[in-house]
Amino acid sequence: MPLPRLGHPNLGLGVGLRTVHFPHLLQHQPDVDWFEIISENFMDSQGRPRAVLEQLAERYPIVMHGVSMSIGSTDPLDQIYLRKLKALADAVRAQWVSDHICWTGVASRNSHDLLPLPYTEQTLRHVVERVRTVQEILERPLVLENPSSYVTFAASTMPEWEFVARLADEADCGLLLDVNNVFVSSVNHDFDPIEYLDAIPAERVVQFHLAGHTNLGTHLIDTHDGHVIDPVWELYRHAHHRTGGAATLLEWDAKIPPFPVVHAEVLKARDYMTAALTLPTSRESESSAPEVTVGRVAAVVPHPASIVLAEVE
Ligand SMILES: [Fe+2]
Repeated sequence: MPLPRLGHPNLGLGVGLRTVHFPHLLQHQPDVDWFEIISENFMDSQGRPRAVLEQLAERYPIVMHGVSMSIGSTDPLDQIYLRKLKALADAVRAQWVSDHICWTGVASRNSHDLLPLPYTEQTLRHVVERVRTVQEILERPLVLENPSSYVTFAASTMPEWEFVARLADEADCGLLLDVNNVFVSSVNHDFDPIEYLDAIPAERVVQFHLAGHTNLGTHLIDTHDGHVIDPVWELYRHAHHRTGGAATLLEWDAKIPPFPVVHAEVLKARDYMTAALTLPTSRESESSAPEVTVGRVAAVVPHPASIVLAEVE
């Protein structure tokens, strides 16, 4: 029996829509299951990108993925941004709208980065309240993605997976489970990625993200600039088995190759959808991790966000 996924369909294997691929897509109309757009790239555009998007939306299901909601910030929610987001979702008949469990700025300053949150009861109440507000404005469930991170807060009182699970349940929202982000953070912060996946409420996983990352030896950076590595594919296999499958999308945002290369990468996911009997155990997944030594040093690295923690609390 398929899992609920908030009633959303499993769209199959999709690709992030990038402008460099517009000529190929318009000329060849490839057999792609669906596309994900970066919402902000189209919200204010009435030019060619918007025209191409609306043309593609006639043929392909479209999912919206944002980077500017700043759901964790202590700044007020940006009502103008949310209205534009809803208008775009209505215009392209978006299957769902997603963003990240993060904050991007405070005091009207934008860091242009997806910053991690301190995982505390106070933060949880704050974010749950904001997600509920956003869902009322958008008139649809919000789908939130687990971040990749390079620092954590000494003030955190629960692991990220517990925060994500409780947030989804208490705000009644969907989850975009980025398997590569889980892997990147598991190496950077020295936790078991299988324990993370197993803590996520499977019925709330609406979508998966896959991507490549960069191994700097001491830590991993979520660069979206290459192929998905085998340990991430194995995590995907595990997550697919737990959830019964969900719409899966490949992100490739730098050094973007020709469209057929990107499409072929996400189609590899088919190879990891069936072998439920060969699920990696926690021990096997540890042995398949790259040879990167990263201690818990990140847990004590000072972070600018510490200055706003008091406000969050
Ligand atoms: Fe992602």
